[in-house]
Amino acid sequence: MNDDLRALIRTIPDFPKPGIQFRDITTLLLDPAGLAACVERMVAATEGPVDLVAGIEARGFLFAAALAVPLRAGVLLIRKDGKLPGATIAEDYALEYGSDRIAIHADACAPGARVLLVDDLIATGGTARAAVRLLRKAGAEVRQAQFVVDLPDLGGAQRLRDEDIAVSALVA
Ligand code: PRP
Ligand code: HPA
Repeated sequence: MNDDLRALIRTIPDFPKPGIQFRDITTLLLDPAGLAACVERMVAATEGPVDLVAGIEARGFLFAAALAVPLRAGVLLIRKDGKLPGATIAEDYALEYGSDRIAIHADACAPGARVLLVDDLIATGGTARAAVRLLRKAGAEVRQAQFVVDLPDLGGAQRLRDEDIAVSALVA
């Protein structure tokens, strides 16, 4: 299932640190049919109306914008801290290979806005869980998250499900 997309994603050993098997989606992005299939499947997997698609910097932005157009939703940017010009709220999180801090504009979403969270990949889930905390702090209703790739051995999708998020991924 979804072997067509799997074949378009390559694994680079020891990036960015020794021992990390890095799933590289740049090869999928280069393939017009693969990219279109990816976006169409993510749109089809979306449940109910969505007001905003929240994309996580940097690769999540690509998929968030591509999904938002057919879903007739806006795009909410979840950026690495220090990049957004207005007043922000931020959350720290641990990564598979380090730690970081993400932020959104404090006024990015109206209370009760239905937000779909999107990223290219979920590994430990630290980034996505911090994103959900941020969005909920801002008053958003976040019930679903979609990824191109899930690395199930790292447990992130399960951790996100434990926080009442319906998680789907195209390639696991
Ligand atoms: C990668 C990926 C996810 C996150 C997944 O982003 O795009 O956002 O890590 O890891 P996690 O589930 O263990 O938190 P990265 O921080 O490498 O940022 P980039 O897209 O800007 O390269
Ligand atoms: N690929 C891309 N991003 C990542 C990965 C990966 O394998 N692991 C954690 N973030």
